[in-house]
Amino acid sequence: MKNQRLVEPENWESLSSNNAVYLLRSTDGALNIYKPISGERLGRYGIPNVHGEYAKREVAAFRVDEILGFGLVPPTAMIDGPRGRGSLQQFVPSTEARAPWHYEELQRQQMAVLDYIIGNTDRHSGNYRTCLNGRLLATDHGSSFPEKLNHFSSDFLHMYKNKSFDADVMKRLGAVDPDHLRLALEEVGLSRTAIDGALERFYQVRGGGIPDVEVVTHYIVP
Ligand SMILES: Nc1ncnc2c1ncn2[C@@H]1O[C@H](COP(=O)(O)OP(=O)(O)OP(=O)(O)O)[C@@H](O)[C@H]1O
Ligand SMILES: [Mg+2]
Repeated sequence: MKNQRLVEPENWESLSSNNAVYLLRSTDGALNIYKPISGERLGRYGIPNVHGEYAKREVAAFRVDEILGFGLVPPTAMIDGPRGRGSLQQFVPSTEARAPWHYEELQRQQMAVLDYIIGNTDRHSGNYRTCLNGRLLATDHGSSFPEKLNHFSSDFLHMYKNKSFDADVMKRLGAVDPDHLRLALEEVGLSRTAIDGALERFYQVRGGGIPDVEVVTHYIVP
């Protein structure tokens, strides 16, 4: 995304009826998902009621995924865009979500770990998709890193409560430097409470897996 200018679309038509979500092209032709903070519809439980808090979470989820090395979340950054400050995420050509068990086991585990650490309360089939090579794609992280959490919502998380993870997932968790993780979230500008929550869940999942937390899901595992 560096040194690229963003090209304004001919019609500013939001991809979402909820928040302002626009498709912007860079001068190199690449497509991006742009969410200006002025278009955030406030009022989500557990997220501070101030514009900019969803955009920070889009970037924070990418940083966590990047540090874990899972490759589920497309590169995401905060920008001063044509409609003001907002998040910019690489657009990934993809098709609709499949039922969770149609993805590879390793990717399902990675998504469960990611959703647990970030405290995701919005991983329904509108917020994950299928890359053209069949891989899982994770999008829309404005409802993560909550300051108050009464339940998670994730189509992946609930399948791995009290289960052990593959060696590859454990190896990646073991390779994370917790100070690096905290610093990355501080750089994004999340509050101390939101960061402490993520770090606590990181230590839990690395130490003993996902505990028996309350999870809303849209699927019953067959
Ligand atoms: N990185 C991406 N690559 C490809 N498509 C994306 C990407 N991010 C979002 N989308 C698509 O854009 C649509 C809207 O994005 P998103 O879900 O992030 O916004 P939202 O504000 O939460 O909207 P809604 O409330 O409708 O879920 C999604 O349905 C998704 O298909
Ligand atoms: Mg969405």
